[in-house]
Amino acid sequence: MADQKALYLQEKQRSLVIGGKDIPVPGPGDLLKYGVLVDSYPVILGGDIGGIVEEDLRTDLTAKQLDALTRFCVSITEAWFDNRHSGFQQYAIAIAEISAKVPDHVSLEEAVSVPLAFVTAAFGLYGTGGQGEVSRTRLIAPWQGGVGKYTDKAIVVLRGASSVGQYVIQLAKLSGLSSIIATASIHNEPLLKSLGATHVIDRRLPFEQLQTCVASLLPSKLEYVYDAISLPETQQIGYDLLSPGGYIMIVLDQSMDVDESSGKSIVRIFGTAHDIDQREDAKAVFSHLTQLLDSKAIKVGRYLFDRSSVVTHFMKPNRIEVLPNGLAGIAGGLKRLENDAVSGLKLIARPQDMYRPE
Ligand SMILES: NC(=O)c1ccc[n+]([C@@H]2O[C@H](COP(=O)([O-])OP(=O)(O)OC[C@H]3O[C@@H](n4cnc5c(N)ncnc54)[C@H](OP(=O)(O)O)[C@@H]3O)[C@@H](O)[C@H]2O)c1
Repeated sequence: MADQKALYLQEKQRSLVIGGKDIPVPGPGDLLKYGVLVDSYPVILGGDIGGIVEEDLRTDLTAKQLDALTRFCVSITEAWFDNRHSGFQQYAIAIAEISAKVPDHVSLEEAVSVPLAFVTAAFGLYGTGGQGEVSRTRLIAPWQGGVGKYTDKAIVVLRGASSVGQYVIQLAKLSGLSSIIATASIHNEPLLKSLGATHVIDRRLPFEQLQTCVASLLPSKLEYVYDAISLPETQQIGYDLLSPGGYIMIVLDQSMDVDESSGKSIVRIFGTAHDIDQREDAKAVFSHLTQLLDSKAIKVGRYLFDRSSVVTHFMKPNRIEVLPNGLAGIAGGLKRLENDAVSGLKLIARPQDMYRPE
């Protein structure tokens, strides 16, 4: 019997259709193996989840703790495309260790802009990639004692107004980097500066001009580039701008020409908390997310800081727009994204909202 509604992609590159679905039953063994390809249809998409926790199956907590911690609180989690853990449905399974409670002052719709984009930003800057204890960029995360630590360093963030880019800027600020240069549509300059960017450059400049313009703003050394576009051209620009020994973080497969003698490192990001190899990184992120989002937090993890620049900075969720018509409104939102008609915003759907024909 179908107990809830879900939005299905029935075949590759076909339209999205609302259909009935059983409510998935939580149980042990929810951990998934990492894999990026969808090979069976119909599939339910949706990379982020926020909602009310109805049932918590953690066995290591007392009933009292469970009640205090999770019952009826709202949580955000990163979804996965296996029809149990994916987002475009009314009920889904969340894995407790990669979920976070939403602070009271943040709406559920704002909070749900966070998980996938924030994890992608954080894994790029601070993640181990599952390759040992040390981050691939050698940066120490704010939640591991790295707040305000990198005042002598600069970063270029390509596609700064994207969901991922906005979190990269905020994290770079939290890490103390003194030059944070972002590319974006110029109308997003005030937004990005409010998040911590020191300079914003028009992303529509021809590539050569963009490169010259970024270069003119750089301090003597550029150790970090976060390329949230990762087109072949931007990867090459970012790589060429880097100083020897620097790190470029990319969100798509590597396509730039590499100079092996430069000592530059390429960090390919897989921003999924479901990846077992990166699970420790993910747990660290999610266990600090509530505090990072909480405007009253002057504490990151167990570290207490008294520097005013740090104390006043906390993570802001992306700006959001709630789509009309629940699950049925998602297709229209995707079309706007495809047409590059969404700027500096995250589109949110409320699966419980009823579809009302216009
Ligand atoms: N590797 C991973 O695990 C992973 C995870 C998540 C996302 N991603 C990838 O990361 C990228 C960013 O995702 P997102 O969700 O953060 O993006 P998003 O929020 O949808 O990005 C929207 C912004 O991108 C900018 N933009 C659009 N077209 C552009 C172009 N041709 N060149 C430069 N900027 C452009 C626009 O900036 P302006 O408004 O300033 O013009 C717009 O505000 C995507 O490619 C996504 O597939 C990868």
